[in-house]
Amino acid sequence: MDTVSTVFAQEVHEGLSQHPKRLSSKYFYDEKGDQLFQAIMAMPSYYLTQCEFEIFTQQRDKIYEAIKSDEPIRLVEFGAGDGYKTKVLLRYFVEQEMEFTYHPVDISEHILAELKGKLAQEIPGLAVEPLNMDYFQALDYLNHVGEGKNVVMFLGSNIGNFVGSDATKFLSQMAASCQPGDQLLMGVDLKKDPHLILEAYNDKNGITAQFNLNLLNRMNTELGANFDVTKFKHYESYNPENGEARSYIISMADQDVHITETGKTYHFDYAEYIHVEISKKYDLPELEQLAEKAGYTVQQHFTDCKSYFVDTLWVK
Ligand code: AVJ
Repeated sequence: MDTVSTVFAQEVHEGLSQHPKRLSSKYFYDEKGDQLFQAIMAMPSYYLTQCEFEIFTQQRDKIYEAIKSDEPIRLVEFGAGDGYKTKVLLRYFVEQEMEFTYHPVDISEHILAELKGKLAQEIPGLAVEPLNMDYFQALDYLNHVGEGKNVVMFLGSNIGNFVGSDATKFLSQMAASCQPGDQLLMGVDLKKDPHLILEAYNDKNGITAQFNLNLLNRMNTELGANFDVTKFKHYESYNPENGEARSYIISMADQDVHITETGKTYHFDYAEYIHVEISKKYDLPELEQLAEKAGYTVQQHFTDCKSYFVDTLWVK
């Protein structure tokens, strides 16, 4: 807790001292943030979750055929969350008597413990070994494990949180941590009618707004900040040219905010923004380029019936 809060304070200080100001979306997910994200996934306008659920439900046999092996498999999921979608595959793989261990990776110990408990009840016979670490430590883990292949799952369009060049860098590191024959199953949101994308990140009920603004509450409670949340607004943009949905928190007043943990005061001009999240959308040719640059070969694309979303399977 202490070190996390120190790193958090340090990153907040750096982000709010920059022009333009920025904060990392990885800090959305405190307990309240986890709840709000669950609420987002339940909104019909946030189509991503249902699309990936459909892909897994309707195409689980094809996915199984594409990854099954004579040797045991390590199924490693980066950013496991609540397992709502993954369970569809896990249940099917167990039914097919595939020999594998499921390794959910998450920085939240709490989420992992809950997931492990749920899986033990719901999918008897499933071998689960959680890894309480961040993505980069997990890459290291991939690097050091023994026989049989790694199948890494990176679902839910989490890759969208990296700007293009960082996505290439991250996936190249992943490839470098893997052996030839290892696979990556990655859920990616696709470019589509910009109105639908904007609506997914700018819902009329304001749940996404609450989710983003919760970052200010989190700084208030964890870092002793004095943000007046009513003086900030959520703003969303989508640029169809590069597929980037960007979330901002905009200051509605000329104001100062003090943060006890950093010992500093930060000034916000009226209409000044903090950039908090990027959720990049891809198209298939762009994904194929990304795979090639990162050192993977595209094996197969699994898309939903509307072609809103793809689970793309790559092999090293
Ligand atoms: C969990 C990062 C995939 O970017 O779509 C949802 C987070 N932000 N609504 C996304 C999110 C606003 C989500 N990811």
